[in-house]
Amino acid sequence: MSDFKERIAGDLLAVRSRSLAYTEAEDDLLVRQHSPLMSPLVWDLAHVGNYEELWVLREAGGLTPLRPEIDDIYDAFKTPRKDRPSLPILGPAEARRYIEGVRGRVLDVLDAVDFDDPAPLRRDGFVFGLVIQHEHQHDETMLATLQLSKEPGLVRDGRLPPARPGGPAEVHVPAGPFLMGTDTQPWAYDNERPAHRVDLPAYWIDRLPVGNGAYAAFIEDGGYHDPRWWTGEGWEWRQRQGVFAPLFWTKDGGDWHRTRFGRTEPVPMDEPVQHVSWYEADAYARWAGKRLPTEAEWEKACGWDAGAGRARKYPWGDHEPTPELANLGHRAARPAPLGAYPAGAGPYGAEQMIGDVWEWTGTWFDGYPGFRSFPYREYSEVFFDRDYRVLRGGSWAADPAAIRTTFRNWDYPIRRQIFTGFRCARDAERA
Ligand SMILES: [Fe+2]
Repeated sequence: MSDFKERIAGDLLAVRSRSLAYTEAEDDLLVRQHSPLMSPLVWDLAHVGNYEELWVLREAGGLTPLRPEIDDIYDAFKTPRKDRPSLPILGPAEARRYIEGVRGRVLDVLDAVDFDDPAPLRRDGFVFGLVIQHEHQHDETMLATLQLSKEPGLVRDGRLPPARPGGPAEVHVPAGPFLMGTDTQPWAYDNERPAHRVDLPAYWIDRLPVGNGAYAAFIEDGGYHDPRWWTGEGWEWRQRQGVFAPLFWTKDGGDWHRTRFGRTEPVPMDEPVQHVSWYEADAYARWAGKRLPTEAEWEKACGWDAGAGRARKYPWGDHEPTPELANLGHRAARPAPLGAYPAGAGPYGAEQMIGDVWEWTGTWFDGYPGFRSFPYREYSEVFFDRDYRVLRGGSWAADPAAIRTTFRNWDYPIRRQIFTGFRCARDAERA
């Protein structure tokens, strides 16, 4: 096997051990629906195998379906999450057997594939990148389900570098054009393409994500009770839901606590805030006299190397993330403290843009100019309807294989169970 094939085989193995680790639990926990927002964990497990069968075995490998009768059950578009518990889904043992059977054949296809094949699914191993990234994305979803399950002891925690207090609050990004999106990252999704020129005026962007301490100050200042900071829709949502703090936060005496994977602990004030909706992020930004960055501002600050006239794959350059550069790949089950990654700073000095928390942007999810859906419309295009806000940068639960400066995620502005925070920006003209 070539080095590239060995690397893909290694990535396939790594993502599968991750999925199996998140489903190492009693059957009852795996088949239960912990929230109407989420699938039972065992659905996610068989779904990643079914997706792998569909794309690698059938579409790229030309093989006949192994179990065509289960396709509809595992098609995320035919069965909304709320309906999944009532379907005849595979039980945990059967799901594990099924995905293992698929995986064995996937490795045979990998062994035989020609990466110079002009077919776009096979060229540069795109289809393998597709399934590896897809499974990592489901692993992150499974972590969100495990968080909602409130079961303690199922999710591994770990050590992270310490906070580094001090340093400027904002970094300046000079006016000028940059290249947004990519034509050169072989495993980039359709929604990251094509690369296109975007000219931006100068702006300031926060050096770090908004921390729990700053967010608590917004709460203490009555931010949740002052409609001035909220959009009309956001205010209506806040009132209807009775929201007064990030999801999983409670006030015990005078102090904020949070429940994280089944354990309650004091809120660490020097960590990026997570589990806030777009509406909350937007209200905080207005209270702070700022706004959310646009998606283009976010991407330029994250990776545009003006000197070299090109975008970096990661803020620090093109080399792979290490534990000193970013908090990715579930090293610990939480964001790292603010300032923990000076070596991971981007070209303008912004830190922690990759890893820790997904970051809400002010932009609706849409196709770039010249967008062409590939390999299927339901990956991105059906979401281009101004219902979804763009999220950037990946969280502590995102894997390095499924994150880069151009990577785009999206969700409804009301969503809070995802590992999402934000940072603010402002126009440079303002004094
Ligand atoms: Fe999926």
